[in-house]
Amino acid sequence: MTDITYRPEAPQDAAAILDLTDRAFGPGRFAKAADRLREGNTVLRALSISAWRGEALLGSVRMWPVKVGDGEAVFLGPIAVEADARKHGIGQRLVELCCEAAAQAGWGCVFLVGDAPYFGRMGFAAAPDVRMPGPVDQRRVLWKPLAEGAAAPAGMARV
Ligand SMILES: CC(C)(COP(=O)(O)OP(=O)(O)OC[C@H]1O[C@@H](n2cnc3c(N)ncnc32)[C@H](O)[C@@H]1OP(=O)(O)O)[C@@H](O)C(=O)NCCC(=O)NCCS
Repeated sequence: MTDITYRPEAPQDAAAILDLTDRAFGPGRFAKAADRLREGNTVLRALSISAWRGEALLGSVRMWPVKVGDGEAVFLGPIAVEADARKHGIGQRLVELCCEAAAQAGWGCVFLVGDAPYFGRMGFAAAPDVRMPGPVDQRRVLWKPLAEGAAAPAGMARV
């Protein structure tokens, strides 16, 4: 796909992003354990990347500051790409760019709840010691270091 622009999230993008993620995930998504880490939290817009073609939003990934045990980590999600724009590498590029931005901003690691076959390609691995604030399939809790020698996140994740 050509003519795609990737840029950090702007305040005026929020409505289009929520519309995209609502359609991608369907009703009930706010019941997820991951949403416990977004409620009452403030999105890190500079690290949250959107993909655009002209005025059309094609994809979005959001990043959130959280505490895990005694440390801090950036929490990735949701990520969504418009159905008719999928399988062109937009999702992977969004993940790469938000991780690069987080590394540049000094974050040591990023974690998420998602499918290991997808995120494994982008360097994510199981984070067995992260506890989520709600029911979750622990095999879907994944992390990736952003700095050399970064310790794996461990402990309860919370806002
Ligand atoms: C997941 C999503 C963001 C991927 O976006 P995308 O732009 O199509 O991603 P990419 O082009 O980088 O990668 C596409 C590849 O990943 C695969 N893939 C997509 N979702 C996958 C998943 N959940 N598990 C394993 N593989 C997956 C596709 O089959 C495709 O494989 P191919 O390259 O062999 O054809 C998009 O499918 C989406 O918005 N899904 C609905 C929302 C969602 O489920 N988000 C969270 C995922 S855990």
